[in-house]
Amino acid sequence: MEQQKKREQWGSRIGFILAAGGSAVGLGNVWKFPYIVGQNGGAAFVLAYVLVVVLLGLTVMLAEIALGRSAQLSCISAFRKLKGGSWTWVGVFCVIIPTLILSYYAVIGGWTLKYIFHSFGGLMAEAGAGKAADVFVAFISSPWEVVAYQALFGLLTAAVVLGGVSGGIERVCKIMMPGLFVLLVVMIFRSVTLEGASKGLAYYLNPDFSKLTASAWLAAVGQAFFSLSLGMGIMITYGSYLKKDINLPQSSLYICIIDSAVAFLAGLVVFPAVFAFGFDVEAGPSLTFITLPAVFAKMPFSSLWSAVFFVLFFFAAITSAMSLLEVPVSYLVDRGMKRRSATLLAMIVVFLIGVPSSLGLDGSLPIFGKDFLDALDYLTNSVMMPITAALTCIFVGWFVHKEVMQEVDSDGMFKFPGKGLWMFFVRYAAPVIIAVILVTGLKW
Ligand code: PHE
Repeated sequence: MEQQKKREQWGSRIGFILAAGGSAVGLGNVWKFPYIVGQNGGAAFVLAYVLVVVLLGLTVMLAEIALGRSAQLSCISAFRKLKGGSWTWVGVFCVIIPTLILSYYAVIGGWTLKYIFHSFGGLMAEAGAGKAADVFVAFISSPWEVVAYQALFGLLTAAVVLGGVSGGIERVCKIMMPGLFVLLVVMIFRSVTLEGASKGLAYYLNPDFSKLTASAWLAAVGQAFFSLSLGMGIMITYGSYLKKDINLPQSSLYICIIDSAVAFLAGLVVFPAVFAFGFDVEAGPSLTFITLPAVFAKMPFSSLWSAVFFVLFFFAAITSAMSLLEVPVSYLVDRGMKRRSATLLAMIVVFLIGVPSSLGLDGSLPIFGKDFLDALDYLTNSVMMPITAALTCIFVGWFVHKEVMQEVDSDGMFKFPGKGLWMFFVRYAAPVIIAVILVTGLKW
């Protein structure tokens, strides 16, 4: 029977940590985190964020990984197996969310590919002439080009996932994550040595505790969940490929450190450069795809810097995309499908759902006043993800806590002194805090 087929496993602990870190480090680290920090009190916000990651992020990450390893199954089956079937639907959510997220994540991933190539095409000339915004608008208003890049990004992601857990995802992350780190360090060096960089550093890091309002704390929690890839079955799935002799609390801590460090360092690239050349700090895609090309265009060897940055961005995006695709694939494989057919099927479904996101970038497919991509982003990240995260904590804390308590220190193989405190957080603190975020954060 398929059930008895040996489950795939990570080749090594470092391989798992880099794969999970690769999932966590993504678009959210490169453009979202620096921007949120700048807006919410600089270094004061960084401190708040670290606190949130340690208390809440780490708690939920460990809960998800332990649940996955204890079940040795993809997420739908994990929720089904462990409690008589009444929680299966939470597992279903865990498959739907990454599928939806990947559909539009691949669209943005496609942009990074376009910009890598275009760095050596006309991008620098046009950005240098103040036309970076025109380039971007022209690109997103040629829908079929956007769809083509979306498809290319999807194919690359599928090619990796096709290679399996250790032969595909782990192998690629072991190259891309160190690569990403090196590129990041090179870019930081370039950025902070620009004349006038210190203004950017001051904007990014001057602590302003008066800005640490309730909404800043909410932003910190929301960002931590998204950035750590929590609340959507990814860490459950990745945890299910782990061997018993891996120390879960320690590994979770490393993943959180990698993710937070990359987020923090990305700000050291963005702000010094943006301020050095006197550009406006703006949110989201426009900062990355409009302001930064204009910034690079002012540097010597502009094409090179631009390409390096977008390759870095591409690495961040595709290692996250793999983890998103692995969730539905893992489910289909557990149902008895071959990995090859499962990957193909998941890729095609994800692509088709993503097409309206690509086509609607020019505002032609609004849903209740939002672009298709933004609407999907809102639905998954602000609604479905917190609900699933809270339910996962309740499930782990109240329904399968015996199994998971044993799992978390590998049946006593490792010392985990914070075990009781951790379970308290899983049971009480995390669900309550997430519920507050959910209710206060809902505005269309
Ligand atoms: N954690 C990724 C980031 O920071 C985003 C992501 C979310 C990736 C969910 C996978 C799943 O961008």
